[in-house]
Amino acid sequence: MNNNTGGSWKSETDADGIVWLTLDKPDTSANVLSSGVLIELDGLLRPLQQSPPRGLVVASAKKSGFIAGADIKEFTGITDAESGYRLIHGGQQVLDRLEALNCPTVAAIHGFALGGGLELALACRYRVAVGDDRLSLGLPEVLLGIHPGFGGTVRTVRIAGVRPAMEMMLTGKPVRAEKALRIGLVDKLVADAGQLQAAARDFILRRPPPHRAPLIERVLSSGVVRPFIRRTLVAQVAAKARREHYPAPYAMIDLWSRFGARGPEAFEGEARSIAHLFTTETSRNLVRVFLLQDRLKALGGKSPVEIKHVHVVGAGVMGGDIAAWSALRGFTVTLQDQSLALVEPALRRAGELFEKRLRDPAKVAGARERLRADIDGAGVPLADIVIEAIFEKLEVKQSLYARLEPRMKPTALLATNTSSIMLEPLAAGLARPGQLVGLHFFNPVAQMQLIEIVHGAGTDPAAAQAATAFARKLDKLPVPCKSAPGFIVNRVLMPYLHEAMFIAQEGVPLALIDKVAVDFGMPMGPIELADVVGLNVASDVGEIVARELGRPAPDLSRLRELVAAGKLGRKSGEGFYVWKDGKPQKPAAPPARKANGPADLIDRLILVLVNECVACLREGVVEDPDLIDAAVIFGTGFAPFRGGPLAYARSRGVASVVTRLEELASRCGPRFQPDSGWPLVTTDVKT
Ligand code: NAI
Repeated sequence: MNNNTGGSWKSETDADGIVWLTLDKPDTSANVLSSGVLIELDGLLRPLQQSPPRGLVVASAKKSGFIAGADIKEFTGITDAESGYRLIHGGQQVLDRLEALNCPTVAAIHGFALGGGLELALACRYRVAVGDDRLSLGLPEVLLGIHPGFGGTVRTVRIAGVRPAMEMMLTGKPVRAEKALRIGLVDKLVADAGQLQAAARDFILRRPPPHRAPLIERVLSSGVVRPFIRRTLVAQVAAKARREHYPAPYAMIDLWSRFGARGPEAFEGEARSIAHLFTTETSRNLVRVFLLQDRLKALGGKSPVEIKHVHVVGAGVMGGDIAAWSALRGFTVTLQDQSLALVEPALRRAGELFEKRLRDPAKVAGARERLRADIDGAGVPLADIVIEAIFEKLEVKQSLYARLEPRMKPTALLATNTSSIMLEPLAAGLARPGQLVGLHFFNPVAQMQLIEIVHGAGTDPAAAQAATAFARKLDKLPVPCKSAPGFIVNRVLMPYLHEAMFIAQEGVPLALIDKVAVDFGMPMGPIELADVVGLNVASDVGEIVARELGRPAPDLSRLRELVAAGKLGRKSGEGFYVWKDGKPQKPAAPPARKANGPADLIDRLILVLVNECVACLREGVVEDPDLIDAAVIFGTGFAPFRGGPLAYARSRGVASVVTRLEELASRCGPRFQPDSGWPLVTTDVKT
């Protein structure tokens, strides 16, 4: 055997004359396809071009998987379309060289093969993979506002066919083992890693004809049929995303429609197209959001308290779902409420969650086993963290703590899910106030990624760190937050919701208010959001936050009338809208009137929210502007392609946003007065 070890790749030639290239990028747990890795690979492939070996196998030495994709940090260095093109074209040439080798080539895959990693595998003649539940093959580039660039838009169509390829690329969703085999992304699945080498060797020795897309898929890619398929694909994408907000999926359809995944033009078109996408604001912002997400993930760190047992008090909307999620993530959970009847609905919902997420009956049974109803609170002395999610009343929470705390382990954390009460009064009667933290989850718990980790004046930093690490173990995104009215997300949402009420009171149709917000890129409009949150909750939290901030109470008469009539929003079947099958029944939005056109409406809604973000920044509720953007994106779904509220303000220009706020203040009222913290927004961002 002949060995060659360089930086990231190891090259070995075995007794049969097969070259094994193994990627093991130093100092990282997952391989990424950085330019350095590609250049090194190119250096290894060049000599093989002249004298081809019997076969070539590409594999990964990492436990985590094959290759996680391109190195996203490199994207941030792309300043213009030309430098983007050079980066992409260089990568394409390396994979072209691999594809053109005059010998059989095999990608031996385990775990993930994503983005550039899958594109590299697709440039091999065959792919074999460990078919366990960790196998995940995908092209998630669209989530970063771009599309595959190393030939993926071409080779995926050639190998899997246009429909499966487009489904993967347009949604960015990975495929699992069976489907990967069915659509030809892999040629063979083996049961475990021990069989991977033999399977790869077998393909090299047998040299079967390589997989091609089935005939029907090839017909669909033919010049005659393409325009029809194109129309369907565009309609599917248009139902989810607008071209001006998310150009990448449209660009993929356009590429296929022009070139039909054929010829060198298809590759050149791909490189030019992605190079352009790199320069769009959408892509820059989505990359920024991705890196923000990474930053939040890294906040986890090591926990000073080992958490195994979670005790939750309050089995309502939130407590029930927090308990279920904790059990799903492997914790032992006891769930307490005032009676078993109050816990049972939560256990039922938990069962549905386990079935949906875990599928495997043994795993579902394990999760059910980990979650137990506990009316007497037998779990309290055993728990490493007690999470309180009972009614939003200070005295009720305080009296519960007085009973809980003496029974808790001295090292255990006491966490509250309060959405609006400050931590200091909650800690007032505690023997160990340093152990109290806020763990503010968002509704619905299973879907919302953010948890605000709230520290009060007396919170021990070690307790806050333990809570942050716990949030990561729950696979959520923690944002550290000072105890302040409404913390960050509710604080900035309230003026947005209230502005929608003001606008409604001026006679603007509700559906139109929602439409302008959705057109801006919000996941739903503010009126619908108020109905979803619950009008009683929106009204209570709004009042508490305004009172604590010492601001005049907003005029919420319309909201209160609805609450008084029992119309609480989605949960009661009617609020601002009537709800059927979980959907609001909206009349078609009429066109906006000229004098009060959408530009004016959207500025009122969004800038009042942005201005509140600036107030939070000035008060130090959250450490820096990036974390505010992250909290608002992951806690509310704020248009990710705009990069967050403060990034949005910067892209519009701070001075022009301030002028606009002044204009709105003189016309609509002092609530638009620019916050004195605006000069802070111009400071450099970290990501
Ligand atoms: P909920 O009304 O659905 O549930 C509260 C549960 O606590 C009820 O089942 C009640 O029986 C139980 N409970 C009350 N006092 C208790 C006691 N002394 N011992 C044991 N159980 C007791 O309320 P929800 O919506 O789940 O809210 C709970 C907490 O979470 C509140 O602090 C709320 O502000 C916060 N929150 C709510 C969100 C939401 O969207 N609903 C979002 C984020 C936080």
